[in-house]
Amino acid sequence: MKKILLVGCGAMGGAILSGCLAKGLWKKEEVYLKEHSLEASKEKAARYGVNISQDGSIASDADMVIVAVKPNIVLGVLEEISKYKPRRVLSIAAAVTLETLENNLPEGTEVIRCMPNTPASVGEGMAAIAAGKLTSNEFLSEAVEIFNALGKSAVVTERQLDELGALSGAGPGYAFVIIDALSDAGVLIGLPRKLAIQAAAQTLYGAAKMVLETGKHPAELRDQVTSPGGTTIAGIYAMEQGGLRAALIDGVKACLDKSDAMAKK
Ligand SMILES: NC(=O)c1ccc[n+]([C@@H]2O[C@H](COP(=O)([O-])OP(=O)(O)OC[C@H]3O[C@@H](n4cnc5c(N)ncnc54)[C@H](OP(=O)(O)O)[C@@H]3O)[C@@H](O)[C@H]2O)c1
Repeated sequence: MKKILLVGCGAMGGAILSGCLAKGLWKKEEVYLKEHSLEASKEKAARYGVNISQDGSIASDADMVIVAVKPNIVLGVLEEISKYKPRRVLSIAAAVTLETLENNLPEGTEVIRCMPNTPASVGEGMAAIAAGKLTSNEFLSEAVEIFNALGKSAVVTERQLDELGALSGAGPGYAFVIIDALSDAGVLIGLPRKLAIQAAAQTLYGAAKMVLETGKHPAELRDQVTSPGGTTIAGIYAMEQGGLRAALIDGVKACLDKSDAMAKK
């Protein structure tokens, strides 16, 4: 029976846990969690039906330790679990580098960095995965298996992982703003809010599915829906005049700049 230690079971840790349990990748009895306090661990363990390892000692014979706490807490967690000489550690913390992980864990620990996103909780996540110096193919395959079960994943260089953090890691945040803005537009032109939100969300979902399933460039798909002198190109023109494309590009770049600045601290 395998053993998984999950340190931090908040938005992302919880999404990974519930997804892996739902997909049958992990059995409840195989998972141990450690939250910031015993009370919190008890509450989360009861919610998911898993075990607790409040001192983290299960790390000594766990197949994998997943570190899913906020970046500023990671070093403390690494210090705590290092006592138990973990074999394999996967961190999802933004801006905590492979080098930092390797330097703060016992020599020989296999490490992986992963940048998931919250749609993993509904099986539609996108995760970037980068391996450390000593990471075995077996550990990497296990990580890919986990994140493919929660959506899609890509094994990338560490720099690409940071770049994907700004695109897909933070991306659901951008998408929620876009859906909210489109629903505002629907309300402005006379639609009820609930219907406008459903129409905006389903339209983005459907368009995204078309890009993924047809493999066509999004510009080609856009061309197919913009007839000359038509209504859609009139809408796109107004949006471009409002700086839609540049705002999205600037937003992703600002997110990466912030993540780079945090990594330097
Ligand atoms: N959310 C995302 O979209 C996303 C995407 C990609 C990567 N990430 C990364 O995922 C990590 C977690 O983010 P999150 O959004 O899931 O944060 P979160 O919801 O705050 O979850 C962190 C969890 O860790 C717990 N915790 C705090 N100190 C702890 C300790 N010493 N030992 C064990 N558990 C402790 C927190 O408990 P309390 O809240 O009670 O303190 C909380 O339940 C971050 O490093 C972030 O960079 C997040």
